[in-house]
Amino acid sequence: MAPLEWKDSYSVGVAAVDHEHQELIDLVNRLHVALEAGKPAEEVSRVFGDLFRAISAHFALEERFMREHGYDQVEQHKADHERLLDELRDIMDEFLDGDSDGASNGDGASVERLAASVEAWFVNHFKTHDARLHSRLGDHPH
Ligand SMILES: [Fe+2]
Ligand SMILES: [Fe+2]
Repeated sequence: MAPLEWKDSYSVGVAAVDHEHQELIDLVNRLHVALEAGKPAEEVSRVFGDLFRAISAHFALEERFMREHGYDQVEQHKADHERLLDELRDIMDEFLDGDSDGASNGDGASVERLAASVEAWFVNHFKTHDARLHSRLGDHPH
């Protein structure tokens, strides 16, 4: 399965925000590589933790920015963030459940699901929620 690639159509029109989104995609790809290579569960968990923290921090920043500006779609936007975080938690739980010997299961199911659901989410979220937010309010503090 190919890594996720940044596409110009993901752009929200603010270079610094696009850069942050690219960094999130890079972290997803790191996790993808670790899962696909069947790295030890400990290592996969660490990469997963890095991704989860980076995404949570990015979302928290956006949500604070929206609230500070009285943005009209905070709840809908936040709900979409929560959807991805739930999905990532599920994928991680699934991965850890399949781990009985200390190595990652390496059957490809987690990798496929991660890649498919995360890519679909990013494409839609960047193009809709984030594009709308940044076209109305511009850049947020980094
Ligand atoms: Fe974003
Ligand atoms: Fe967002």
